[in-house]
Amino acid sequence: MTNYTLITGASQGIGAEFARIAAREGHNLILTARNESSLQSLASELDNSHGIEAIVLPADLAEPGAAKTLWDRATDGRRVDRLINNAGFGLNGPLTDFPFQDHADLLEVNVNALTRLTYLAIDHMMANDGGRILNVASILAYLPGPYFSTYGGSKAFVLAFSEGLSKELQGSSVSVTALCPGTTRTGFFDRAQMEGTKAAASSMQTPGEVAKTGWEAMTRRARTVVPGTANRALVFATRFAPRGALAATAAKLFSKA
Ligand SMILES: NC(=O)c1ccc[n+]([C@@H]2O[C@H](COP(=O)([O-])OP(=O)(O)OC[C@H]3O[C@@H](n4cnc5c(N)ncnc54)[C@H](OP(=O)(O)O)[C@@H]3O)[C@@H](O)[C@H]2O)c1
Repeated sequence: MTNYTLITGASQGIGAEFARIAAREGHNLILTARNESSLQSLASELDNSHGIEAIVLPADLAEPGAAKTLWDRATDGRRVDRLINNAGFGLNGPLTDFPFQDHADLLEVNVNALTRLTYLAIDHMMANDGGRILNVASILAYLPGPYFSTYGGSKAFVLAFSEGLSKELQGSSVSVTALCPGTTRTGFFDRAQMEGTKAAASSMQTPGEVAKTGWEAMTRRARTVVPGTANRALVFATRFAPRGALAATAAKLFSKA
């Protein structure tokens, strides 16, 4: 059986950059997201330029059960040796300004689908010469996120879940790495309705830089990685600052006043 790298949220942004890096290194790909035409054009770009096989499996991970169906289709006759759980989105604003279903969808994509795919991948990889899992969290996992609370909470889960599993799997053939990006220039800010916030106006890394840092950390089986010196300094500072002060700083970044 041939090996594949499965990337969720591969239709744009950081996920598409993961796909480009993986293809350059000769990995076959399974690309998933909802936007099938973007996935198809990325797949043909990578098939043609790197001679790898790129398979497109569209899925809406907000639908309960979609992650399991995706995994079953992805592994039908194939071996997945790298899983990048990158799909995710945010909702910026006071909690009750959004219908509850929007928050439920966020948790389904950012938390439940990621957890289900990680769960399914571990046994599959153990039975097939091992593998690597990269879960995309955020630097927001390290601090409270006023006006971004379900998103921040989802990313705190991703970081804690991944760090715990990384220890649990230590010494085995499967590794789990958490990538914690700071602000990155992608469509994320439009989707999260962040226009007018200080966070959206802050200096940002490119999705290519962030994906490269994450890919390299996964390759060396690191537990956690934070791309960018300024982001690493911020995460370091959170160890010493009171949670109330962190919440006040984050409120300034995420409020639209
Ligand atoms: N940009 C930042 O500043 C930043 C910072 C920290 C962490 N992150 C994290 O980085 C990851 C990638 O985000 P990005 O910045 O590259 O944003 P992006 O450009 O908006 O890409 C998000 C990806 O997730 C996919 N996605 C969203 N909802 C989905 C659903 N219901 N089902 C399946 N796929 C879905 C999107 O594909 P479709 O719309 O085609 O479904 C897209 O491919 C996310 O987990 C995000 O939370 C981003």
